[in-house]
Amino acid sequence: RIGRVADAHGFSAYVVGGFVRDLFLYRHNEDIDIVIEGNGIEFARAFARKEGARVNAYDKFGTAVIIFADGFKIDVASARMEYYKFPAALPTVEMSSIKLDLFRRDFTINTLAIFLNPDKFGRLIDFFGGMRDMKEKAIRILHNLSFVEDPTRVFRAIRFEKRFDFSIGKLTAGLIHNAVKMDFFKRLSGRRVFSELRHILEEQNPIPALVRLEDFGLLKVIDPSIRMNKALRQMLDSARNVLSWYVLLYRPEECRQWIVYFLVLTRHADQEKAQAICRHFELAPRHEKIFIQERAEAETCLYRLSQGLPDKNSRLYEELNGLRMELILYMMAVTSRDDVRRAISFYVTDLKDIRISVKGKDLQKMGLSPSPLFGRILRTLLREKLDGRLQTRHDELELAR
Ligand code: CTP
Repeated sequence: RIGRVADAHGFSAYVVGGFVRDLFLYRHNEDIDIVIEGNGIEFARAFARKEGARVNAYDKFGTAVIIFADGFKIDVASARMEYYKFPAALPTVEMSSIKLDLFRRDFTINTLAIFLNPDKFGRLIDFFGGMRDMKEKAIRILHNLSFVEDPTRVFRAIRFEKRFDFSIGKLTAGLIHNAVKMDFFKRLSGRRVFSELRHILEEQNPIPALVRLEDFGLLKVIDPSIRMNKALRQMLDSARNVLSWYVLLYRPEECRQWIVYFLVLTRHADQEKAQAICRHFELAPRHEKIFIQERAEAETCLYRLSQGLPDKNSRLYEELNGLRMELILYMMAVTSRDDVRRAISFYVTDLKDIRISVKGKDLQKMGLSPSPLFGRILRTLLREKLDGRLQTRHDELELAR
């Protein structure tokens, strides 16, 4: 349908980039990027009208997002000569606009495109050896200035290498070493570096990429104080195990794995250093709070637990209640004590969801008028229930009385 609408406007339409790459790798990908040779915004409006969707258009960039009623989105870009700025040192070559669009991209495997117009529907466009590199399982840049143009691609290369179990090509690896040696990264803002790190920490298994970053001397680009030593490696492995365990519990609260891994990566930092890292990366205040205040609370709690585990469920509950799940999992990942880890996991699986059925209105029915006493009664009931002394609602009401 995209191809037909494009055709009617005299444009060529292609699906490009990650979607095509993942199609050949049999990987699920719902991010559809369309490039229109012609006016992408005009196409997006026409297509959306036909499909009953909305459009957000960005005139300055010639791009648009088509948003369907169910929330599904398609990104549309225009391939038009006047949009391209080129590194001056590159030779000038004649190219069609789709070829130019694809040439601006990071790696050959991301330069595949599929024609969508009806006459050539499904035809694969591969100008830069993308299919060869898919077969060779290689991450290769398109030209020697790729990392000069955009140093964040170094992090992307490593992320893709580990995600797909590919290898970074020899020349590309050499250019990464060069980028590290020449410190291309000093002109990147902390925010951009962090965004790449976060993408890595959101990968299914970020650990191989972190090890690879260290091999290239790139962890210190992220922060000079991070060292991939045995202790950190163990904590990262432990975080991975704990996160997998948590996923299998199918609990309703989401747990952002990047936060757990980032907490582990920066565990060595004291308050002041952690603050400096957060500022440098321009973290949102809500995230900074997790990495500074909430981490400090979790560390204090961990210290108390390792001094002696509570003898009652209710005391364990009171220790851990209120800490967000990312911090609970962080504590499980970093503790060297099996008994502490076991106690925390018991809290997550057996205690965290315990509730009493008696409510304030039940107390009112007993003739009590609302007061701070209510809170005390309800807390006592919960404590008793956690410690196994209340089985039924009847027991709760009895005790309340
Ligand atoms: N791209 C680039 N240089 C960057 C970032 C992106 O050339 N620094 C190009 C890539 O070629 C990519 C496209 O822009 O195909 C879209 O990038 P992104 O949204 O990151 O998508 P994916 O490559 O699909 O990555 P992911 O699978 O992680 O979403």
